[in-house]
Amino acid sequence: MDKILVTGGLGFIGSHTVVELQNEGYEVIIIDDLSNSSEQVLDGIEAITGVKPAFEKLDLKEKDKVELFFAKHNDIKGVIHFAASKAVGESVKEPLMYYENNIGTLVYILKELKKLPSASFIFSSSCTVYGQADELPITEDAPVKKAESPYGNTKQIGEEIIQDTCKIVPTLKAIALRYFNPIGAHDSVHIGELPIGVPQNLVPFITQTAIGLREQLSVFGDDYPTPDGTCVRDYIHVVDLAKAHVIALKRLLENKNKAKYETFNLGTGKGSSVLEVVESFERVSGKKLNYKIVDRREGDVIAAYADTNLANNELGWKTELSLDDAMLSAWNWEQKVRA
Ligand code: WQD
Repeated sequence: MDKILVTGGLGFIGSHTVVELQNEGYEVIIIDDLSNSSEQVLDGIEAITGVKPAFEKLDLKEKDKVELFFAKHNDIKGVIHFAASKAVGESVKEPLMYYENNIGTLVYILKELKKLPSASFIFSSSCTVYGQADELPITEDAPVKKAESPYGNTKQIGEEIIQDTCKIVPTLKAIALRYFNPIGAHDSVHIGELPIGVPQNLVPFITQTAIGLREQLSVFGDDYPTPDGTCVRDYIHVVDLAKAHVIALKRLLENKNKAKYETFNLGTGKGSSVLEVVESFERVSGKKLNYKIVDRREGDVIAAYADTNLANNELGWKTELSLDDAMLSAWNWEQKVRA
């Protein structure tokens, strides 16, 4: 079966995607610099699939090491590229670190893919490229807006770099997957989200508050023009998201792509407010969540949720898991990690 490289494969979405790749019989090799993950995730993956993926600790900013890696593994048929820094707030404070880590490394990988007989490339992008979309739900041809953060800008620039490269490298084809809000954990609770420090994202903050690690959830504003005043997002279960990566990769490996470069939104197509997420958590956990309404967070868009028609019709993929499924899996994972 084809050998697939997963960069950032020990991270939250990467590890769940490795599981789904192995479930489909692919041979997986992971590169990760362990800056935001741990080698123990390999054991979690093996506990689920029975196969421990090959792993090389490697900082993709080290160009010569990237070249050596691809020289050694020139039988790689596809790459799913997750490795990147992804904290919006941090990117505002450290723009150069983000441009070096998210853009520089992408260029090094693409330069190596050019040398392979053929390469299928899946890029981890984000709905953040749309900013506050003018129309909801958001389609793939919604205008890409001036990024609200260097992080978002690295996703926009990354997509352009890949598109330009596909145009002139006959053997390269690529798909950019624009995630909405990935949440939850594998139902085996062998893998899940492992945020380092104080979680920036809503769902890990909810579960850490419920388990007693955080005092109280701050809800960033309830004066938005939405049904209950809190922001609306499209929360997608990480396992549904992972499965979409395998389907997209297969599309390229089997030459079913309609263009050398394609983009797909990956969401449920349904918007949920912050308070609806809290209610979902309380419903599935049976616990009352301690939260308070505070001021808005700088840079938050009011509402974002996906038009999923293209992924549904072209990829033959749609989400199967609900918000409650995701919140229960996140809560089960939190309890396991803190046990
Ligand atoms: C969701 C909602 C907050 C925390 C970001 C990135 C995106 C992707 C996912 C990487 C918002 C509210 C949050 C809290 C809150 N990251 N909230 N209290 O900002 O939609 O997306 O993470 O790929 O690119 O932009 O996700 O989980 O931070 O926030 O009220 O303690 O929850 O205001 O409305 P976001 P989030």
